Amino acid sequence: MEITVKVRRVPEQEGASRSVVGAESSGEMAGAAQPRTGKARTSTAPGYWQTYHMEAKPTDRILDVLMALKSEQDGTLTFRRSCGHGICGSDAIRINGKNRLACKTLVKDLGPGRAITLEPLKGLPVVKDLVVDMEPFLAAYRSVLPYLIADTSTTPTTERLQSPQEHARFEKTTKCILCAACTTSCPVLWTNPDYTGPMAMVNAHRFVFDSRDVAAEERFAALSDGEGVWRCRTTFNCTEACPRDIPITEVIGELKRAMIAQAL
Ligand code: SF4
Ligand code: FES
Repeated sequence: MEITVKVRRVPEQEGASRSVVGAESSGEMAGAAQPRTGKARTSTAPGYWQTYHMEAKPTDRILDVLMALKSEQDGTLTFRRSCGHGICGSDAIRINGKNRLACKTLVKDLGPGRAITLEPLKGLPVVKDLVVDMEPFLAAYRSVLPYLIADTSTTPTTERLQSPQEHARFEKTTKCILCAACTTSCPVLWTNPDYTGPMAMVNAHRFVFDSRDVAAEERFAALSDGEGVWRCRTTFNCTEACPRDIPITEVIGELKRAMIAQAL
């Protein structure tokens, strides 16, 4: 079958000149804080649409489509991917207006007879075409101390054992692949680039509810500043976008309740 693919092409941008695809209207951006990296934001997507026509099978993945376009039609087309199997999280883009992994989305999933649109994720600086700068996203990740912090006041003589029930408390948040589909689908981030975002909350949850960890208070402190969990507006965009089916809105609710309980 012949398909039409419209790709948002963005010329390569260096450092501080990189623009961020943000809110749709300039009114939404009024008074917005600068992003974590201090880079400029734009109220409309930078670049231009480029249209391609090609043959594809209904069972082709959008990643197959991109690789075919790059190898057969346009070697300058730039996108990111690694594993090709939904594991590494590197090929999250906006496909027909929704955040998805290109390697987990089939042509037949997108409805017959309409052009397929491919855009970079919103809310992060665009490096080139479909590649965004992940540094602001990773800065939020680092801010919640995404690693086990165990009690080291005594030297353990055995493994730090955990029951299945204790593991079940945070099992759902171990599935995150850091793809950024959640954070960049959130309208709070689009208008406030300093918002910590759902991915960081998911990864805070991963350790806050781990029975072997003792640093919940530090993570709560990171999440309770003006850009943390209390900015969440419960829009469920993150939950819908997550390719790992993590119930992110529920996770954020659990964090909020734990933070309130700790403060009482
Ligand atoms: S929570 Fe889901 S959508 Fe968000 S970064 Fe992790 S895997 Fe991706
Ligand atoms: S290429 Fe690794 S998740 Fe798609």
